[in-house]
Amino acid sequence: MISVFGSANMDLVAYVAQAPGPGETVTGREFRTIPGGKGANQAIAAARAGADVAFLGAVGDDAFGPGLRAALAEAGVDTSGLRVVPGPSGVAHIVVQDGGDNSIIVVPGANGAVTGPAGRDAEVIARSGALLLQLELPMDAVVAAAHVARAASPAGESRAEVILTPAPAVPLPAELLEAVDLIVPNEHEATALTGRDDPGDALEALLGLVPEAVVTLGARGALYGSRDGARLHQPALPVRAVDTTAAGDTFAAALAVARTEGHDPARALRFASAAAALSVQREGASTSMPHRHEIDRLMEEGL
Ligand code: RIB
Repeated sequence: MISVFGSANMDLVAYVAQAPGPGETVTGREFRTIPGGKGANQAIAAARAGADVAFLGAVGDDAFGPGLRAALAEAGVDTSGLRVVPGPSGVAHIVVQDGGDNSIIVVPGANGAVTGPAGRDAEVIARSGALLLQLELPMDAVVAAAHVARAASPAGESRAEVILTPAPAVPLPAELLEAVDLIVPNEHEATALTGRDDPGDALEALLGLVPEAVVTLGARGALYGSRDGARLHQPALPVRAVDTTAAGDTFAAALAVARTEGHDPARALRFASAAAALSVQREGASTSMPHRHEIDRLMEEGL
């Protein structure tokens, strides 16, 4: 099982030829309201990729809350750890321009009310093979969840592997890094965290912080490294991207699924790359994540 402790946002998405600059007004082509949030995205992507998934987080008592819960439940995610708190749900204001690049403003809403694992969350994390974390919840809450995973080791079982997507990029406290097993930044986040512009250099610097790292490079694929000396480059599939929203979430979730199934780093990277390649060819966050049979088919086609 995989547990995801993270954010749920309703994405308010405008599609436009070119995103406006400061002081500029442009006419968009389409508007959509799509369940998202880095945490919920990872939960849905992991469930579609074949894992049993529990989502731990919060929505508000507004009109968006039930839609966010329904999107998770429809994907087969256990939402019994999704709390309802007074006030608005998290929202993300997203502009997607032609070619698929996006810019996002997140207003945390209910996500900001999460203080750490509560209720039965620790029990759920202890039963998991992996705990997926991102940085759209308060940092103290993320640190607390990582430490719960570290502390938990039910008799005869290994503890949950802690996999962090460090997005949005903010400085990471030592208390978080010491509890992370694998970090999965994109190249911009990797540079922000390490001060190194070159992704290969950034990967090496990340391995000074945590035991394993994957730096995603968009159309140039992904780099993997571990402290035991392994280094891999997984090229990306040459696909036509229409919307890269949540591609990183899809990648991290699929990577976790493959790792909890016991696959080696090379196969796990290929699986994650296949999932991400499928997601960028579709619009939206939760609407873009592929199902297991689609990922397997792409793998069989020789990615
Ligand atoms: O990673 C993509 C996500 O970032 C979007 O779904 C949006 O909600 C923001 O959290």
